[in-house]
Amino acid sequence: MPVPKNEYLSEVWKDGIFNNKVVFCTGGAGTICSAQVRALVHLGANACIVGRNVEKTERMAKDIATARSGAKVIGLGAVDVRDPSSLNKAAARCATELGSLDFVIAGAAGNFLAPMTQLSTNAFKSVMDIDVLGSYNTVKATLPYLAQSAGKHRSDGTTPCPSGTGGRIIFVSATIHYTGLPLQTHVSVAKAGVDALAQAVAIEQGPLGITSNVIAPGPIGGTEGMERLARPEDLTASKKRIPAGRLGTVKEIADATVYLFSDAANYVNGETLVVDGGAWRTHGVNPSGSFQYPDFLLSDEVVAGVKGGKKAKL
Ligand code: COA
Repeated sequence: MPVPKNEYLSEVWKDGIFNNKVVFCTGGAGTICSAQVRALVHLGANACIVGRNVEKTERMAKDIATARSGAKVIGLGAVDVRDPSSLNKAAARCATELGSLDFVIAGAAGNFLAPMTQLSTNAFKSVMDIDVLGSYNTVKATLPYLAQSAGKHRSDGTTPCPSGTGGRIIFVSATIHYTGLPLQTHVSVAKAGVDALAQAVAIEQGPLGITSNVIAPGPIGGTEGMERLARPEDLTASKKRIPAGRLGTVKEIADATVYLFSDAANYVNGETLVVDGGAWRTHGVNPSGSFQYPDFLLSDEVVAGVKGGKKAKL
């Protein structure tokens, strides 16, 4: 079903900036990744999305193709990022059927809430395997194509390459490991690994012209992640702790993706773009403390009841 453009892309980008480009995305049938791919397709790219679920992946590919008349979007199901051979075949098929592989989004992830005491070794390993090993397998399967694309689309930083950009990878990570979060040991460790991998790719593959960056989404509304990880009754309190005062949208992650793949981000490499409305910085806020966030800040009240309050001048 066609999705209105304003749900997945801002008006600031020029149509056609990704003409003749191909994006390969793992976890592409998910709510965040499908919006990222839909935005790129709208702006001219063709795409190959891969996922474990055949029906869901094929259906999403058809749906994303409605973003632009003439778009080609392939949906390859039964591809598990833990299995390098299925990924290698998928990347090869993408390059053969669509002509190249210019951008990669490593988006496949596993997540659930569990305290360490209820997290078996295999449960921990499953998330490490999907997130860390899966991202590594994605890098290995796509690097030759990315290197080819990067070689063709280099920029000197002043004159845009006439054939546009290419040879770029984005890892979808998270912010939870910046401060730590209970019930998320497995994911914190995994996402720290994903970030380190993205940086290693930037260092080792940068000389070939490849850029490798991370997008770290915060709490994004209407996503599988929010459904899996948050109780609806906790949302009001959660939103209050976000400096932006609301959940993010998939469009805001898609916009960040377009930026990193565009000519505007030629010199951005090994970086993390956090798109969270400032949320991770308030993890330390005490929701039931005396100086309620953000109410106290907005109230003009003066800090009182602590020794460090402002003293009257004598
Ligand atoms: N709490 C504790 N342990 C859990 C769990 C939970 N909620 N869900 C799964 N596990 C454990 C299983 O019990 C198993 O461990 P065991 O063998 O010791 O019993 C281990 O994790 C693997 O589970 P399994 O279902 O066999 O793995 P899978 O490969 O089929 O699925 C998961 C991977 C576990 C990440 C699953 O949650 C998943 O497929 N998620 C969908 C994708 C997703 O999470 N996307 C992220 C959106 S934010």
